[in-house]
Formats: sequence, structure tokens, C-alpha cells
Amino acid sequence: MIAERLCTLREEDGAVAVLDQTQLPHRHAMRHLASLADAVHAIRAMLVRGAPLIGVTAAYGVALALKEGAGDEALARALETLAAARPTAVNLGWALARMRGRLALLPPARRREAAWAEARAIATEDAEANRRIGAHGLALLEAAPRRPVNVMTHCNAGWLATTAWGTALAPVYAAREAGLPLHVWVSETRPRNQGLLTAWELREAGIPHTLIADNAAGHLLRQGLADLVIVGADRIAANGDTANKVGTVLKALAAADCGVPFHVAAPCSSIDLACADGAAIPIEERGGDEVRRVAGFDRHGAPATLAIAAETTPVANPAFDITPARLVTGVVTERGRCAPDGLRALAGGSP
Ligand code: MRU
Repeated sequence: MIAERLCTLREEDGAVAVLDQTQLPHRHAMRHLASLADAVHAIRAMLVRGAPLIGVTAAYGVALALKEGAGDEALARALETLAAARPTAVNLGWALARMRGRLALLPPARRREAAWAEARAIATEDAEANRRIGAHGLALLEAAPRRPVNVMTHCNAGWLATTAWGTALAPVYAAREAGLPLHVWVSETRPRNQGLLTAWELREAGIPHTLIADNAAGHLLRQGLADLVIVGADRIAANGDTANKVGTVLKALAAADCGVPFHVAAPCSSIDLACADGAAIPIEERGGDEVRRVAGFDRHGAPATLAIAAETTPVANPAFDITPARLVTGVVTERGRCAPDGLRALAGGSP
């Protein structure tokens, strides 16, 4: 798998190197993060993206911040600054709470080393959690009625969104390893086009896939061309309402109407039992230029941006939407599968 050659994040001489996802799929460029400001920028500008990877980067962001000072004030400032980087993915707050829990009671002189170790542990556990999601989710693909199995996904919830394997794509990779014939429908995911990242991942892994415009998903579902939908999550509320990349709820509505199972695959770090339901999940609103313009690379390979709407066109750009639990067939986590109303039992206890 390409993840063995490229990686989303690695430690490098007291700094962190991340794969700059704003350059993909056209260029493979690693960027060095050497400070708290670098980590915040990487998350906010989406050099790193995807809920689990945002959490891991934030954890390393704390380690980077402590290079400049490891006292209580510096630690509090780092946690607060990172927490404000992006609002929807709960993995960010989850990772920071874990860093706080590990570091706050230590004397400052011992915090730096402990921060690196804890960030490393979060990264390692993320990879293992995703591997398990793949193993648990494989049964869903094996149970599909025909071969090749046709999976529909949205956004990018592959290894690029994590430290390894991905979440929604983990069962796809597991199926590939098990020799199950399959094909994936990949929606482009305007306005940031994370579907292009998914198409790139699948191409590199040799998994048959077809890129579609977001608007084509309903038609394909009505034609019976998908056996199941699997998406990732940025935050799952206690009742199973799920925040994921904007456009997810349209697929869930269409899948429900067509009788196609709709599954959410996410680690327990994406489950927020403190959020009673989807109404309590903050939805990130991003800048209007993401919608007014399209970004890509010209035929010489240079980054280019094209305006597709007037500069003055009013734009709404919610980055996520909420899929109500009633449209979710099941949730796949590293601890196993459950119905959306079974999350408390699955995720509430200790690991
Ligand atoms: O804005 P992004 O690209 O960070 O949004 C990513 C998603 O919505 C993913 O589907 C979600 O984080 C799950 S990633 C394993």
C-alpha cells in the first residue's frame, strides 16, 4: 500500500513533517512544522485534514509549543490556541484533553519529553484503531449481495485523513487484502474536492473506482449501482447523529429512500457523548472564495485558481452537515459495530 512509502505525518529532529494535502494529488510535498503557529496553520489551512489526523497533529502541536516554554501558562496557551483551529472534528478536543491530562500534573521540566511520547502514542493508537475498523467493517462488504461489491463514499476518509488505513476506506483496504472484488464510487466533494484525494489513494492502491460529480450520487443510488454507502465522521453525537463533510446527508437521504445501507466508520475518538444530538455539534463555516473559485494545477503543473462566480456573489460555505441517526444503518468503530443508538454502550466504557 502506498502508505508504506508516503505518510501523512512523521517526527523529524524535534519537528514534525506533514504531507501537504493542499498540493495533492498533483504534488507530494512534505512541510515542516517547527512551532505552535506552524501546527495551527497546518490544521486551519488544511495542509492536514480529516478528523483523526487533525487530532494527531494537534497533539504534536502541543509538543512543538512546549519547545518555547513548558510552564503552566505556555501549556494553557498552546491547548487553547490549538482548540480554536477548527471547530467540528471532536478528535481535536479529544487529543488536547488527553495531552492536558498527561501533562498538567507533571513538573514543567518533564513535560517536553512526555508530550512527544503522548503524541506518538496517540498517532500509533490511531493507526491500530483504523486497522481494527477495517477488520470489523470487512463483514459489511462481504455481506453485500453481488460481486464486485459497489461501495459509495464521500469526501476522503482514507489513510490521508489519519495516520494509516483511514476510517471509511479501512474496510475497503481490508476487502482488497481479502481478495474481495470491489468498486468504489467517489464523489468529488465540492468545494474542497477531497474526493480527488480518495480517487488518488484508490488509484495508488489499485482499487477500481469511479469519480463522480456530487450531484450524480442520487441517480446512481436510484439505479441500484451501490450496495452500501460508507462515510467517515468528524463528530458523532450520543444519539448517533453524525457530522461529516457537507453533502453526506444528501447521500444518506437518498440511500434511505433506495433501501441502501448507510454506514459510518470512525474511531471512538470521534464519538462525543457530551453532545446529546446533532444540534449541539458546531458546524464550521469556511470562506466564500472556496465556492467562488476552483483551485487546481495548469497544464504546466503550476498551481492555478479560476474564478467561477463574481467576487461579489454572496456565498454560504458550511463545511459539514448532520446526518440524523435515523438515516444511519450502523456505526463501525475499533471496538466493533453497533446501531446508532448503541454508541453509549460501545464507547462509554474504558478501552
Ligand atoms: O474538512 P476535512 O477534509 O477535514 O473533512 C474531512 C471529513 O469530513 C472526513 O470525512 C472525516 O473527517 C472523517 S476522516 C477519517
